[in-house]
Formats: sequence, structure tokens, C-alpha cells
Amino acid sequence: MSSGIGDQIIIEHYNKVAERFGLSPQSTLGDQYIRNAEISFFIDTLKLLLKDESSQSLFDIGCGNAHLLSCLRALFPTLKLSGMDFHPELVKLAASREIDNCTISQGDMRKDLSSYGQFDFVLTERSVINLLSIEEQYSAFTNISKIIKPGGYYLFSESFEEPRANINRARKQMKLAQDVNPSKHNLWLREEDLEVLKENGLREIEAACKPNHLSTHFYITRILHSIALPKGGEASEFQNFFNLALPAAIGNYSPILFRAFVKSK
Ligand SMILES: C[S@@+](CC[C@H](N)C(=O)[O-])C[C@H]1O[C@@H](n2cnc3c(N)ncnc32)[C@H](O)[C@@H]1O
Repeated sequence: MSSGIGDQIIIEHYNKVAERFGLSPQSTLGDQYIRNAEISFFIDTLKLLLKDESSQSLFDIGCGNAHLLSCLRALFPTLKLSGMDFHPELVKLAASREIDNCTISQGDMRKDLSSYGQFDFVLTERSVINLLSIEEQYSAFTNISKIIKPGGYYLFSESFEEPRANINRARKQMKLAQDVNPSKHNLWLREEDLEVLKENGLREIEAACKPNHLSTHFYITRILHSIALPKGGEASEFQNFFNLALPAAIGNYSPILFRAFVKSK
């Protein structure tokens, strides 16, 4: 897809998101189990990897309304934070939080990012999948790799095609009619797309939780719940129960994967 049409889709989608959700944690993601798991993944992995908080820096690319940055500020009061987003209204919302020691700017990860500086940590939270061509995703991964300091880290929560095939196979077996599909403002990644990170000196490492942490949750919400819920029924108690009853990270059914990479020194 050319970036002209892609940009239009993204701008129109996030105009609605900005207007409807403002500073809410529900902005860009209704499922708060997933949102909280993402935040825990970033926080717990930072706790593992941070060496000297007050001299280190973190850049959230595609920061949206800066909900994640505000959670990080609450736990890491001296870490230097930066956030950037493509959408002007989301940038305005993010800036309106006036997070201490945190620069918010409007930008585009498809373009060279070197003017932002070099960072100990770069994060993306479902933002690379907002680039609607493989070439743009490739450019973004290259640009991201270049602004990570040697020995620094890239942490992401992004969606992938391989687990989608698994969940759709499982749905078919249960005679569930519709496939799980990416929405029109997303292009989900494939494992092979991560080669570009390797080419730029990034190596995958273990994070504080497994990449497939959300797999059980996706099985509950996209399979069990779909089979069990009677017409007009309400799913929240059912989902809460099984989220607590079953261990996380069973199988590979979550398109959203949590991954961590270190840049060679
Ligand atoms: C799914 S949202 C996630 C936002 C935020 N991380 C959150 O969880 O609410 C993806 C974000 O990527 C931003 N984005 C899309 N294309 C971008 C680009 N080329 N450069 C920077 N950000 C971009 C969107 O504006 C949007 O805020």
C-alpha cells in the first residue's frame, strides 16, 4: 500500500481514537487485560535490564496518548523519557500530561531518527504494525536499530501472523465461523521481518515474561468464550475466571508477542 493511502487510513482511525478516548488507557486497546500485561512486560523487563536509572534514557516510538510513558514515570522517577507519535492529536494529548523530564514530539519512524539522539531503551507498543507496507516496516526497524546505543535494548509488543494461523486453525476445529483478522489500520509482522534487526546488530534475549505470555488469554477470549457464551450473554466473569485459573503463556495463540533485543557493543 502506498504511504499516501496508508497515512490517510492511520490519520482517520486515530482521529476517532483521540476524540473518543482522550487520555484513557482504553485508547488504542479496549482489552485492559492485554493493556496491563503489556505494561507489566515493559516495566518488569526494564527492572531486569536497567543499570543506572538516572543516567539512562528511553524512547517510546508511537507513544499514542503517552499512557505507557506515564506508567513508566510513576515507577522510574529519574529515567530520561521521550515519546514520539505520527498523529498530531495524540501528540497533543501526550504533551498535555506534562510528564516530568519527558520530551514529546511529532515524527515518523519511517524516516531517519538520528536527530532524536541515542537511547538505552527503545520501545514500540503495537506501532510498527501501523505501517501498512513491509518496506515501511523494514525502514522503521532499520531506523529504530540505529538509535539504540551499543549494549542498549529494543523491547516491543507487536502482532504476528504465525500465531494468527494457529488461533484460526483452532477456531475452525471448533466450527467458529469467522477468522481472527488484523484491522485495516494494521499489517501484522512475520518472523522473517525480524531479520533486519539481526542485520543491524540486534540479538533476541529473554525478557521478564515469555513472548507468548498472552497466548492463554487469546485462547480464552477467542475460543473458549466463543464456544461457551450463549446469545446475549456477558463474558467478563467467564474471562476473569479463566485468566486467573489458567497459567499464562500456554501455546502460541496470541498474535501479540512480547520480545526483547540487545544491540551488540
Ligand atoms: C496501536 S497505537 C499504540 C499507541 C500507544 N503505544 C498505545 O498503546 O496507546 C499505534 C501508534 O503508532 C502511531 N504511528 C503510526 N504510524 C507511525 C509512524 N510512521 N511514526 C510514528 N508513530 C506512528 C499511531 O499514531 C498510534 O498512536
